[in-house]
Amino acid sequence: MEFSTKVTAPEKLVCACVAVAVFESQKLSAAARSLDRAAGGIIHALLSSGDMDGKVGTTRLLYHLPGVAAERVLLVGMGKAPKVSPKDYREAARAGVAAILDTGITELCSYLAGVSVPGRDMAWKARQFGLVAADAVYQFEGMKSKKSAPRALARIVAGIASRMEAPQAERGQFQASAIGAGVALARDLGNLPGNVCTPSYLAEQAVTLAKPWKLGVQVLERAEMEKLGMRALLSVAKGSQQQPKFIVLHYLGAPKNERPVVLVGKGVTFDSGGISLKPGAEMDEMKFDMCGAASVLGALRAASQLKLKLNVIGLIPATENMPSGSASKPGDIVTSMSGQTIEILNTDAEGRLILCDALTYAERFEPQAVVDIATLTGACVIALGHVCSGLYANKPALARELLSAGDEAWDRVWHMPLWDDYQEQLKSNFADLANIGGRPAGSVTAACFLSRFATKYDWAHLDIAGTAWRSGKDKGSTGRPVPLLVGFLMKRARRG
Ligand code: BES
Ligand code: MN
Ligand code: ZN
Repeated sequence: MEFSTKVTAPEKLVCACVAVAVFESQKLSAAARSLDRAAGGIIHALLSSGDMDGKVGTTRLLYHLPGVAAERVLLVGMGKAPKVSPKDYREAARAGVAAILDTGITELCSYLAGVSVPGRDMAWKARQFGLVAADAVYQFEGMKSKKSAPRALARIVAGIASRMEAPQAERGQFQASAIGAGVALARDLGNLPGNVCTPSYLAEQAVTLAKPWKLGVQVLERAEMEKLGMRALLSVAKGSQQQPKFIVLHYLGAPKNERPVVLVGKGVTFDSGGISLKPGAEMDEMKFDMCGAASVLGALRAASQLKLKLNVIGLIPATENMPSGSASKPGDIVTSMSGQTIEILNTDAEGRLILCDALTYAERFEPQAVVDIATLTGACVIALGHVCSGLYANKPALARELLSAGDEAWDRVWHMPLWDDYQEQLKSNFADLANIGGRPAGSVTAACFLSRFATKYDWAHLDIAGTAWRSGKDKGSTGRPVPLLVGFLMKRARRG
């Protein structure tokens, strides 16, 4: 997707399609009013005839309006004027893009960012429009023998009424293009099947990404993991024919001695459950169990494209979780890299086993903060559904930062408790702790488990089990939480 900004009156803009907002009760946005005046009141007449009610998500495509230079005018409903919520703005933008997706229109000039969205500036509106558009044109065709045509829509022009707002709109679009590319990368990796996207494939992709985006990259093999004592991670990998990989990426945007932010992504390229085998229904979706890893790659790509003045390290423990004669069994006890012993009561609680060693490995970077991202628990989906990710943190200030980054990016998270009371549930009769805490508060006890390995730095955990992909007929990876992570990194970069 290409982005640009134009300062022109909407009726004068020469293009295939110009999109403007209309509201309920026949109210017009400033841009719609200006088109209406040029076209002799046609838009107003259409609204008073009752052909369009202006509700969020409604659209009308009009052709060759007199006095209007653009070939088409797209009316986009934005609900009740004058206050548009962030959610309604995004929904309207999505509907506007969807309305022209099956036409041959290659360029959409949008004046939607001219409406006021309380608390959000022009950069936000331009960025969100760009991200929504990039999301809408995304297709995953890599595995089909007959590819459908790529979407015609390839350019978004932000129509701007006043020159003053142009720099902000341009900045928002620049961010949209970097974040959008990170989201698309994460979606692609998530959508690939488990027989293609193996731990080795993830490692190759990290190496491929490193060159153009000037990232340092290092891939630790099984022998090196053994030397480091990552026996929790290796206990998951040992049931699989695929070699585990521990991927380390460095983005240096600040002086070397500045403490980095460390992002840790769960990279289980297929989660069968292991010996505690999962039931068959929807097991295919466990190819998405590496979406945390994919979001780390997407965020690092974006950080580099945005040239953020910040150091960021990406850590990806990558493995399959498979049943076999060499797999871990319920009751097995392993010693983690931290020295703590873990009783594996359920081999399907494998995410925390690979993350705990990555969290210990993170200590060597003396990080300013560590954020892990994982499709960790089905319980989180039960608690929060598919709207927001679960957020846990050992520092309230870090939690607030991520909450606000999520709200800003509209990639929201909800703060969950990490109280000591829950640690009880992880007690083991035979080891320092058990890898499961029973049915109650399953997402919380998973986070509590991780917290035992994140004692040396500020740490947060995002459980993205409900947000990383969609099921059903639109099954596919969402690219979340790349927008949240990049927003968080952008704020940290400004702070430093
Ligand atoms: N990858 C799954 C979590 C998951 C399940 C995400 C379904 C999205 C949908 C994770 O490895 C897992 O299997 N967790 C178990 C933990 C349990 C054994 C304590 C779960 O959630 O059932
Ligand atoms: Mn599992
Ligand atoms: Zn898993």
